[in-house]
Amino acid sequence: MRIGLACNVKPADPPGHLPEDAFEEFDSPDAVAQIRDAIASFGHDVPVLAAGPGIVDAVREERPDFVFNLAEGTGGRCREAHVPALLELLGIPYAGSDPLTLCVTLDKPVAKRLVASERFPTPAFRTCRDVSDAEAVDLPFPVIVKPAFEGSSKGVRLASRATTDGALREMVRFVTERYGQEAIVEAFVPGPEVTVGIVGNGSGARVLGMMEIVPKTMSNDTFVYSLEVKRDWENQVSYRVPPALPAAVLAELSRCALGIYRLLGCRDFSRIDFRVDRDGVPQFIECNPLPGLCPGYGDLPIMAGAVGIPHRALIGEILGHALARHGMVPA
Ligand SMILES: Nc1ncnc2c1ncn2[C@@H]1O[C@H](COP(=O)(O)OP(=O)(O)O)[C@@H](O)[C@H]1O
Ligand SMILES: [Mg+2]
Repeated sequence: MRIGLACNVKPADPPGHLPEDAFEEFDSPDAVAQIRDAIASFGHDVPVLAAGPGIVDAVREERPDFVFNLAEGTGGRCREAHVPALLELLGIPYAGSDPLTLCVTLDKPVAKRLVASERFPTPAFRTCRDVSDAEAVDLPFPVIVKPAFEGSSKGVRLASRATTDGALREMVRFVTERYGQEAIVEAFVPGPEVTVGIVGNGSGARVLGMMEIVPKTMSNDTFVYSLEVKRDWENQVSYRVPPALPAAVLAELSRCALGIYRLLGCRDFSRIDFRVDRDGVPQFIECNPLPGLCPGYGDLPIMAGAVGIPHRALIGEILGHALARHGMVPA
């Protein structure tokens, strides 16, 4: 089969006026090559489709039977939906979630409202359009201030955890002015951080693994899996699979993750982030229907490796679920 790999590749020479993490979500050329090789190893031709405006022509020229979508897109809170929407328009089947799920999950306030509506716990939050809105935030400290629609810790620093009015204002200013979007201000949950990997569809959706992100240089009370931490992850964190948490908490993490996966309409694979509060309750932080798949770096491949699923098998499993969903291979 001819399987296009839609992706955004990190530019070699990013423009200096943009934030240092402007291209954080994009894949390195090396990651793209490894994912392409993994797909090709199942006997497919794999043209790479660069997910800029040129993808419209590239799809027509390459004529893929199917697309494996990694594209994070550029610009705005619908950016992750652009490639899947185009593929739907052209009638080309693809792996992963559909445009609505990709939009809803990228916008953290929208995702949290939906998740809360089904009574899955998620930290209380407010949104700020600019720094003047920070005055009205009535949450107890500490809080965390994040861009409303980014990923890969873009716009998230250790300083995003704010404990004073002044720090809150400063971080709301940083997010709204530097990232050109609303800030979400959330109650900070100081407990263990766990990310849950899910694969499959319908009644076959299952938890692939759960991984605790354990800070090496600070306690969970102040830990933020921030840009600084992710870029220096070997020194800053260790990964624990399964998390060192009571069985009842693990069961609740699994229940919430699968419930949220279904509620948000995720398909084929996703990774859902939680922090566990002082009462042992998993608090939903965010859902990633396009989690990084870079071997050895992305949290999902690291977790898969820890449960005995090598990178090639992980890619094969995701592709298998996606093709089966389209009736293109036996389930
Ligand atoms: N409410 C919160 N309480 C505690 N830590 C949080 C909270 N929200 C985010 N964080 C920390 O910030 C990190 C990045 O936030 P997240 O919402 O997952 O953004 P991204 O989409 O960039 O991954 C999380 O992995 C977690 O460490
Ligand atoms: Mg996250």
